[in-house]
Amino acid sequence: MSLGVLVLQNSMLALTMRYSRTMDGPMYLASTAVVVAEAIKFVVSCVLLLMEEANAGGSASIVGVVHARVFGDPFGLLRLMVPAALYTVQNNLAYFAMSHLEAATYQLLYQLKILTTALCSVILLSKSLSGVQWFALCVLSAGVGLVQTANTAPAPDADGPSNSFVGFVAVLAACCSSGLAGVYFELVLKGSKTSLWVRNVQLSLIGIVFSMVPVMKDQERVTALGFFYGYNSVVWAVVLLQALGGLLVALVVKFADNILKGFATSISIIVSCVCSYFLFNFVVNTRFVLGAGCVLYAVFLYSSGAKKAPSNAPSSGGAGATSPSNATKAGAMGKDVAK
Ligand code: C5P
Repeated sequence: MSLGVLVLQNSMLALTMRYSRTMDGPMYLASTAVVVAEAIKFVVSCVLLLMEEANAGGSASIVGVVHARVFGDPFGLLRLMVPAALYTVQNNLAYFAMSHLEAATYQLLYQLKILTTALCSVILLSKSLSGVQWFALCVLSAGVGLVQTANTAPAPDADGPSNSFVGFVAVLAACCSSGLAGVYFELVLKGSKTSLWVRNVQLSLIGIVFSMVPVMKDQERVTALGFFYGYNSVVWAVVLLQALGGLLVALVVKFADNILKGFATSISIIVSCVCSYFLFNFVVNTRFVLGAGCVLYAVFLYSSGAKKAPSNAPSSGGAGATSPSNATKAGAMGKDVAK
């Protein structure tokens, strides 16, 4: 997995999602976009699972593999309902927040998930953080506070007048969901020897079912206008990028190269800020720049803190997290990035 793919996915998703929520023309339903992304992840995860089986010398059909490995573990399937439900809420919140916040602001505020992931790891996985990491979390919180109070209100959009406070609350809720879901998913992964792709097939399958609930809430519009109402190339790009993002999160968990993810996040925030400035006439002020600086510094600091204390850091999605078994690999990733 290269730094370029992560940077591109991170910044492109934020920018295209923001654009898709503010563009002229018929507005698509976010609830349907979440279902489509889950369906794409399900198909891709099935293909990857089949490839894994083939590599291990198995020759069963996709139906046989899914039946034996995905439904052969009903308890695991049941446990994944928790992260699947959280991710469904989180993915819907992302669209909602993007209707109220600029892409750059959203991305900066969303970094608060490093704090929620760290806290969940400490509480649920009994992991401990280095002093540097605790300091980084304080800097991060201060940075997010500055960005939130910077008064860089976006222009009104297709969903009506923007309300940055409502957007902020949505991002906060998404961060809590991200931290809890990531750590819970790690708990399920580590609780058995089941392959990551089996877990991902299970997660996306339940995700499809759960994400149909918000669609049912929009039933009237879906029946009247159709499931794919308002879908154009931009919306398809958002859906594909969101699906790709989910698969990348899964790969990060598998290979634990969260240091690389931390660098990618920082670079993509800068890319989003610059692009927002040129594409959406996003006006920044001193407070925003100061806050953005704090967030970027915190992401770097948290990543390097994890590098020095690999055995203590959480590995479920936080920017700098890594797992003991992959410490060497993560260190190597760090070197790659520095090149
Ligand atoms: O890291 P973060 O919480 O932002 O990533 C969450 C996103 O990744 C969600 O869109 C979720 O649906 C997706 N995901 C996934 N498969 C996993 C873990 C997360 O598709 N195993």
